[in-house]
Amino acid sequence: MIVANRLPLEYDAEDGWRRAPGGLVSAMESVLRDQEALWVGWSGQFCADPDDPGTASPPEPPDSMGDIELVSVPLSRADVAAHYDGFSNGALWPNYHGGIVAPVYHRSQFEAHRAVNDRFAEIVAQTAPTGARVWVHDYQLQLVPSLLRARRPDLRIGFFLHIPFPPIEVFSQLPWRTQILEGLMGADVIGFQTTDAAVNFRRLAERYLGVEEVDGGFELADGDGRRHVTVAAFPIGIRASDYADLVADPDVQQRAKQIRADVGDPDVLLLGVDRLDYTKGIDVRIQAVTELMLDGELDPERTAFIQVAPPTRAKVEEYQKIRSDVELLVSRANGALGPVGTNPIHYMHQAMGPAELAALYLAADVMLVTPLRDGMNLVAKEYVAARTNDTGALVLSEFTGAAEQMTEAWLINPYDIRGMKRSIIDALNESPAAAAHRMRGLRQGVFEHDVASWAQDFLDSLPPEQQ
Ligand code: F6P
Repeated sequence: MIVANRLPLEYDAEDGWRRAPGGLVSAMESVLRDQEALWVGWSGQFCADPDDPGTASPPEPPDSMGDIELVSVPLSRADVAAHYDGFSNGALWPNYHGGIVAPVYHRSQFEAHRAVNDRFAEIVAQTAPTGARVWVHDYQLQLVPSLLRARRPDLRIGFFLHIPFPPIEVFSQLPWRTQILEGLMGADVIGFQTTDAAVNFRRLAERYLGVEEVDGGFELADGDGRRHVTVAAFPIGIRASDYADLVADPDVQQRAKQIRADVGDPDVLLLGVDRLDYTKGIDVRIQAVTELMLDGELDPERTAFIQVAPPTRAKVEEYQKIRSDVELLVSRANGALGPVGTNPIHYMHQAMGPAELAALYLAADVMLVTPLRDGMNLVAKEYVAARTNDTGALVLSEFTGAAEQMTEAWLINPYDIRGMKRSIIDALNESPAAAAHRMRGLRQGVFEHDVASWAQDFLDSLPPEQQ
């Protein structure tokens, strides 16, 4: 069973229910293929609110998607405002990303969050077959493992955190730190993206739960006996071969040429692809590229920078702010650079499908991935997977989980604009042989540690089935 905040599909007024974009869906699809599987999550639609009789009933999601059975968790508009926009994205997300913006802690939002986690746990408890493996995903559902274990001790429960897990000084701010740690400890396996995150968790559990580390995990009292909790890093991968297949398609190759032509057949094409999130460092990279053009190190008439930034969490104030900041930076840069007809920064505030993204990856000379903090960053891996002829360069923030693995990238500190500018220029000036050597190393890692091996490693670490 997969338990995630969202179901793997979304509702569109024109198309009806369709497969949702996003890493988790494609990751899990390949893992669940040929297995009996159930997915529990929210449909993205608001259920009727008991306190607001005027609310309409939402369209019902289908019972299955391919071979995966779907179980929808009803959330009202008020639940989503307090649990998703509020506690998950206004408190946990900024705290876990190290306080890039100030987290806001509201007691009422935590109560709503706890109630939603309890609803998830109840629905899983009612639907899970005896002894099933239940894999709970991400920061919105950290209380589920314990709430579920209390109801169904027969289940084998895994939890994976897709985002960073902060150091002790930052996490300790959370007024509900003990409840969150206890919630996670209900799992048999707690997985993180990086070894640093796993270390942070172990230290926090020792400090606030009074437990002692044994073999990288914990031994907890469990009824009359004891049970072991494994705490480890499982860095997530992508379906790398999908991108290699996409860029082998002549239509995608033609589209890549067309993209370059559409932005004026530049000598240098730079690319960024990120949800429009303040953690992604979109603003600092626009600043770096703009300065390079103003300094004359890049020619604004022969350079193009495409930034794809699909909308996300638009009800949360900090996301509205980063949108304004980015849009101001883009228009200021284009206003300051070059003669009439020169607009070197192309900003796309829209979602794109995998074929269009693959064409962009194929078209770009340099990929800019500059988050201030990121759990992993799958875009860095997608770019590399798409560079089947070993050309191109990846400029990567050292504050992403990916940087722990992708050491052949041009690693930069996104707070150091000068260093970032230097690395972009060095990447462009590197000899083709040296660049190909880096790209080969990067590609090997991305193909070896793909999403299938990630999921297999995680599932293999769960306790064996009881006979
Ligand atoms: O990176 C964490 C994550 O929750 C992903 O699982 C998800 O694809 C993305 O952020 C966007 O999340 P959402 O739109 O559900 O807030």
